[in-house]
Amino acid sequence: MAGTGKLSGSSAIVTAAGQGIGEAIAKTFAREGASVAVADINLAEAKRVGAEIEAAGGSALVIKADVTRAQEVDDMVKAALDRWGTVDILVNAAGGFHRFSPITEISEEEWDRVINVNLKTTFLCSKAVAKIMMERKKGRIINIVSGAGIGPNPHAPSYLPYGAGKAGVIGFTKLLARDLGAYGITVNAVAPGTTLTPRVKKVRDAESIERIRSMNPMKCLVEPEDTAEAVLFLASAASRYITGVTLNVNAGNLIV
Ligand SMILES: NC(=O)c1ccc[n+]([C@@H]2O[C@H](COP(=O)([O-])OP(=O)(O)OC[C@H]3O[C@@H](n4cnc5c(N)ncnc54)[C@H](O)[C@@H]3O)[C@@H](O)[C@H]2O)c1
Repeated sequence: MAGTGKLSGSSAIVTAAGQGIGEAIAKTFAREGASVAVADINLAEAKRVGAEIEAAGGSALVIKADVTRAQEVDDMVKAALDRWGTVDILVNAAGGFHRFSPITEISEEEWDRVINVNLKTTFLCSKAVAKIMMERKKGRIINIVSGAGIGPNPHAPSYLPYGAGKAGVIGFTKLLARDLGAYGITVNAVAPGTTLTPRVKKVRDAESIERIRSMNPMKCLVEPEDTAEAVLFLASAASRYITGVTLNVNAGNLIV
């Protein structure tokens, strides 16, 4: 596999790679020749993904990390450095939410938890790789955001702390792209449309999923692999001067 892919010779960290969109990104990167750190709070699922990558001929390093915690983030990056000597690509895929509720029912604890997993994780992981990338004058950071960070879903409920967290990540992406541009580092975001990952199957009811599917211009839901291909583009040489953008992968559900 190594030598021929779009990411051959690169090393990447993908957070939340144990399932869903992060898993698809990790596998797509491995298919394209990257050595991939499969980082997740759920070690069993990270091991499964790592084993599947290796079985397909790729190279994976499985890391258990809760990326809301600075120490675990630093340990994650150190493990990748120890294995490969550098980190070329970081994908911040950790995020999401687990219920819909109106502002009057959102506790301070819930707000902090959702903001932290979507926004603080992006800061901590980006900070941990920035020094390495700045010294090498090379690097790619790609943040997985959501249409909820751009505006309310036109066809289904949106969830306030999630949208606020993802809006924060979109702002973070633009500012960091400006700050790191001089070091040859690009920072971009990808906003998937509603994707039937294990978490979303639990959190969205069948009716709203059907509305999102049938009301968007292309009459479909996107798959994790659709997002993974967009992330691959932003990680590859083909996008070398694209920075600070948010790329929507949503079948037209939200056009801005
Ligand atoms: N699925 C969608 O419809 C959708 C749409 C837009 C954006 N997104 C974004 O895509 C990303 C992935 O979403 P998904 O639906 O694939 O999620 P998912 O819930 O299916 O998978 C998330 C993974 O993240 C891991 N994780 C959770 N907290 C973590 C932490 N603190 N540290 C490390 N790992 C942690 C979980 O163990 C799990 O393996 C999220 O940022 C989400 O906001 C998803």
